[in-house]
Amino acid sequence: MKGKVALITGGASGIGKAGSMLMAREGAKIVVADIDAARAETVVREIEAAGGEALAVRVDVRESASVQAMVAASVERFGRIDVLFHNAVSVPLVNKHDRRITELPEETWHAIVGLVLTGTFLTAKYVAQKMLEQRSGSIILTATVDALVGQAGLDAYTAAKGGVVSMTRSMAAGLSPEGVRVNAICPGFVKTPHQSVFLDDDKERAAIESLHLMGIMDPEEVAAFAVFLASDEARSMTGGIHVVDSGYTAFKANIDPAAVFKR
Ligand SMILES: NC(=O)c1ccc[n+]([C@@H]2O[C@H](COP(=O)([O-])OP(=O)(O)OC[C@H]3O[C@@H](n4cnc5c(N)ncnc54)[C@H](O)[C@@H]3O)[C@@H](O)[C@H]2O)c1
Repeated sequence: MKGKVALITGGASGIGKAGSMLMAREGAKIVVADIDAARAETVVREIEAAGGEALAVRVDVRESASVQAMVAASVERFGRIDVLFHNAVSVPLVNKHDRRITELPEETWHAIVGLVLTGTFLTAKYVAQKMLEQRSGSIILTATVDALVGQAGLDAYTAAKGGVVSMTRSMAAGLSPEGVRVNAICPGFVKTPHQSVFLDDDKERAAIESLHLMGIMDPEEVAAFAVFLASDEARSMTGGIHVVDSGYTAFKANIDPAAVFKR
């Protein structure tokens, strides 16, 4: 990624932070964009301490003016944007407030769709305008396995991320003939700060572990695949929905037919 400029939303924490650190280590200049300006600054200092170059930008991806200012600040500092790795989501909003459809308050629906789907629309729109001007770029949208397999109680989140998955394909069809690639990553359960509450509960942890064949993932495992999608080695990859899920979507249940039929 030497010489590339990577803009990473949600770059101050979790998967976005892992992407910021890893892409910087691979030689990219990084824009750490996050609603939490102080934590974005901390990540920038970590990148600089490791010998990299980075800029912190405060952004609220729900606001068009804020997204446009983020793009302008990135271009002013580094001249171009080669990679967008879009992660910004308030995980507590989803974990604490999303519900089964019959109990889902309408304001929660609008809040989650506004952040997850409209936030992706606004971010991708203004970054892609710059990429089209350059006639090159790689957009990587973080979706989720919950957009591919149902998850009870997360009706707003799954709908919004399902929209992100669909947009990935239509955006690729629209933008790739002019040099801009678009891909989505669907992670399984990733050990990020707000998800740790599930892991502190022994019953929840065991249930989550039983669904992940190779264990619960670290953010770096998702970030490593984002680096590949960002690089020119992935130059023919666009419109793809890629699971990085420790086998989550590979099977429907941990049942053992041998134990039942072949005794
Ligand atoms: N952790 C998981 O298990 C998991 C699984 C599948 C998908 N994902 C997706 O991965 C992405 C990152 O999740 P994470 O677990 O690393 O979360 P995280 O909470 O560690 O990081 C998300 C970052 O987004 C920022 N943010 C929140 N609202 C914002 C806004 N309006 N504008 C700009 N920034 C904002 C937060 O400040 C935070 O730094 C999300 O899109 C999430 O839906 C996570």
